[in-house]
Parts: sequence; C-alpha cells; structure tokens
Amino acid sequence: MDKIAIIGGERLFGEIPISGAKNSAIKLMAASLLTDQPLRLTNMPRLADTRFLGRLLQRLGAELIERDGPDGSETVLHTPEILGAIAPYDLVRQMRASFNVLGPLIARTGHAKVSLPGGCTIGARPVDLHLKALEALGAQIDLHEGYVFAQAPRGLRGAEITFPFVSVGATEHAMLAAVLAEGVTVLYNAACEPEIGDLADCLTMMGAKIEGKGTSTLVITGVTRLGGGTHSVIADRIETGTYAVAAAMAGGEVRLTKTQSGFIQSLLDLMVKAGVGVEPTPDGMIIRRGEGRLEAVDVHTDPFPGFATDLQAQFMALMTTARGESVIRETIFENRFMHAPELARLGAEISVHGGEARVTGVDRLNGAEVMATDLRASVSLVIAGLAAKGETVVNRVYHLDRGFERLEEKLGACGAQVRRIKGAASDEG
Ligand code: EPZ
Repeated sequence: MDKIAIIGGERLFGEIPISGAKNSAIKLMAASLLTDQPLRLTNMPRLADTRFLGRLLQRLGAELIERDGPDGSETVLHTPEILGAIAPYDLVRQMRASFNVLGPLIARTGHAKVSLPGGCTIGARPVDLHLKALEALGAQIDLHEGYVFAQAPRGLRGAEITFPFVSVGATEHAMLAAVLAEGVTVLYNAACEPEIGDLADCLTMMGAKIEGKGTSTLVITGVTRLGGGTHSVIADRIETGTYAVAAAMAGGEVRLTKTQSGFIQSLLDLMVKAGVGVEPTPDGMIIRRGEGRLEAVDVHTDPFPGFATDLQAQFMALMTTARGESVIRETIFENRFMHAPELARLGAEISVHGGEARVTGVDRLNGAEVMATDLRASVSLVIAGLAAKGETVVNRVYHLDRGFERLEEKLGACGAQVRRIKGAASDEG
C-alpha cells in the first residue's frame, strides 16, 4: 500500500487546475445505462472510484473507452444491451455509489438485482430513501441475502415523492429512474448540490425533461427513450475547497483554476473570517495567506449551499493552528471525526463529544506517522502535514486515490514537498 510523505514548512506559490467532480462523474457514468447510444463524458477525473464503476458498467454490458481529448481526459460509455442486470457485492462493496445503477437498470430493463452497499467508516449510510423512491415509482422491491431484487414488469410510473430530509444520493437515484417513467414525477425536498444540477444538465442533453434545477423541487416528465451525446463534468468543488484550505494552511499565494468560487462560498466566507485572503476570478479564485496566525471560527455542516461535510476534515486541520477555540459540528454523518485522533498525533488539541468537536489552536504541529481512515480524512492529514514541523507520513493512501487526482503533482507544482512512497498495489476501498 502506498504512503505519502510530506515535509512541512514550505509556503505554496503557483496554480492548481481543478479536475472534474468525482461525485458528479460517477452518477453521470450510471446515467449511461439509460440509453443504447454512446455517452461521451469530458473533463473526467481519473480516480479509483471511476475505475471501480467502469468495471461494474462493463460487467453490465457497457463498452468503455478512456482517452485524452481536447478537454482533458474523457470516457465514452456505450451499452447497446444490458447483460444480466446484476450488480454483485464484490463490485458494489468497493464503491457504494455503484448502488445508483439500480434505478437505471429497472428503468431500462424492468428488473435488477443489485447488492446492498453496507455501512462505511463515516456512518451507517442506509439506502431506505433510495428504495422508497423507487417503490413510489412503481418498482417492487424485495431484499434477500444482502441483495435488492427489483421488478417493474409494466415499467415505472411518475409519482410525487417527498424526501423526509435531504439526500444527495436518493435525489439522484430518483432522477435516474424517473426520466424514463411514464408521466410526471415531482421530487420535493430534493438536494440542491451542484452535482445534481450537472446530472440534470446531462440527462436533459440526452433528451430528458427536467424542471427546477438548482431548487428543492424537481419536476421530471418521463420520456420513452434517451439518446447519447457529449457532456462536460463540472469542476470538483470538494477538490477546490481542499486546495483552498491547503493554501491557507501552508501560507503563500495559490490560484485555483477551471472551477467556480460560488461552489464553495460558505467555506470561503469562513476562511475570510479566519483571516485568509480570497479573490474570486473568472475561472476560480486566488487564495492568499501572509505570516501570522489565523483566528478560530466555528462551523457546522449542512446540505448545499451550507458548509459541505466533505470539507469538514480539511477545515478542522486548518483550525488546529488558529488562535482560539473552534467548535465544529457535523450534522450529516454520525461518525465523521475519525481524523481527530490522527490530527492529535501531530500535536493538535481536539476533544470530540458526539457530533461536536472542539479544536483549541496550538502554535505549531509536529510531523508524525498517521493513518488515513476515509477519503476526506486522509487529505486533511496531508493538509496538516504541509504546516507541521518535520516529516508527516500518511499511511493507507488508497483512500486518497479514490477522490484526488495527481495530488502530489498538484501540490508539488506549488512548492510543497510531498512524495509518494510506493507499496504493494491495493484496490481496497
Ligand atoms: C453523497 O453521499 C456524497 N457521495 C458524499 O461524499 C457526501 O458526503 C454526501 O453526499 C453529502 O453531501 C457521493 O456523491 C458519491 P446523502 P450520499 O444521501 O449521497 C442519510 C465523499 O467523500 N441517508 O446526502 O450517500 C445518510 O446516512 C463522499 O466524496 C439515509 O438515512 O449522502 C446521511 O446521514 C462521502 N437514508 C444523510 O442521509 C438514505 O436512503 C445524507 O446522505 C440515504 C441517506
């Protein structure tokens, strides 16, 4: 298994181009199952998670081509026919968003057998809302031996669905099924994350009828077939926020390009409050941090446009050396503070009580060996390592490879001393 070693203390100067969004790309890949025509996705990130899903789609009958195009990497997915409509445990286990093939498979073939994803390190993460939405659309769902068996022999029908709380995955899953359902589907209390808008844009390009993009009510009028086409994946807002925080942690001046500051406004507002310089630009932003300590600020996670849970660990790393106490409340996942004890190994002072962490800023962190526990937690350790004295070694970086493309290269181009120590290969996730 690879490790990443960071020698802290270098200020960062330079430019970081942001990749296409992982959490959009994988839903767009699932959307390719809805048509027998080729779907070409440009600005595609090359990540372990897109590889996992690619393998599953190939098992389901997709032809997959990955190549370099004028807009960076691109993937063409073409599924003339669905083979089997079965998503086995060994492939869904590797990446829980693989579960989102269920809706498209039912919509396209009228039946599917898809493994339940199981829990993960950040929380139990049930899929009850996904299943209720599919049932409301007319699917008969049975659970046996860890699998969902779904049938809709007469096809799916439009329905009114009110989500009891905001779920990104359930909103996307309902959209992926409703586009081919007969009649009108209305989704109330839908998630408003930019990735939902991206999925709506791609499906619309394929011929779907979706109104209300960017709002919490989506109205989808089913069509009988969807076609293919080309769609460019939106910028990864979590990668954007991660490098914004990295620049603030290390100090210096970094320009983030190929992205949008509006995607992470709630993070940028807090960074400004803490004393970081933020200048929006037409294709991103410039982050500046001079000498001197930042001020501690409090934060709580929320669905978009609130502060993203996927940026909570990185923000906690930033607060470890701020002046004063920062209270960080996690409201989306019940177990998302696994990075706190690892940050403490670097000298951070953090106490966790339930969904709340109190971070008392220290003068400086000291490098140590630490362990990545999930994707965003692992990058928070890299961020902390950028400002720690001496060397920090992050173990289990396969977590990081699931969602950050060429991280060492991107940080290294700005002067960070970050290197990968190669170990035995692993696809674990
Ligand atoms: C998506 O997960 C993202 N993953 C997550 O990013 C992100 O943290 C999360 O949205 C919140 O923004 C992908 O897009 C692949 P939810 P998702 O459904 O869709 C509960 C990363 O690091 N819930 O909005 O699974 C759930 O347990 C990942 O890139 C139910 O109870 O999140 C959670 O507490 C991690 N029943 C809350 O809702 C359900 O049926 C919100 O989850 C569905 C969800």
